Amino acid sequence: MEQTFIMIKPDGVQRGLIGEIIARFEKKGFSLKGLKLINVDRGFAERHYADLSAKPFFNGLVEYIISGPVVAMVWEGKNVVVTGRKIIGATNPADSAPGTIRGDFAIAIGRNVIHGSDSVESATKEIALWFPEGIVAWQSNAH
Ligand code: CMP
Repeated sequence: MEQTFIMIKPDGVQRGLIGEIIARFEKKGFSLKGLKLINVDRGFAERHYADLSAKPFFNGLVEYIISGPVVAMVWEGKNVVVTGRKIIGATNPADSAPGTIRGDFAIAIGRNVIHGSDSVESATKEIALWFPEGIVAWQSNAH
């Protein structure tokens, strides 16, 4: 079954949008397969956005992603990559339709609340980068 990587960015976490965002994916019918709240360092953020390293906004983007905790998730379901991007809305909130996450909760491209993989290939790479331990961690000494 197809999987995608979804990240709630620091602004989405700080604004209390975690529950709202998870609810939208759940109500659509997708299954949550992995989830963690983490702080990433500069090197990791640069790896995640390596394809954008030549862009003028790259340093600002990295600063934004390392400015606070993010929620990293793996969602699964039929066509979840493309449909997930529809739920998220256009990258620039000025273009994202009302009813999408960015359309409802963002106004600036540099603070656009959420990231979703743009292809099945990117999803595979991003899931491997963000969940090297596997998407469900095992705890061997739980009581
Ligand atoms: P995301 O879906 O995470 O993919 C790349 C990110 O780069 C995008 O969301 C935005 O957060 C950011 N981005 C893209 N274009 C710009 C821009 N012109 N200015 C600032 N940030 C941008």
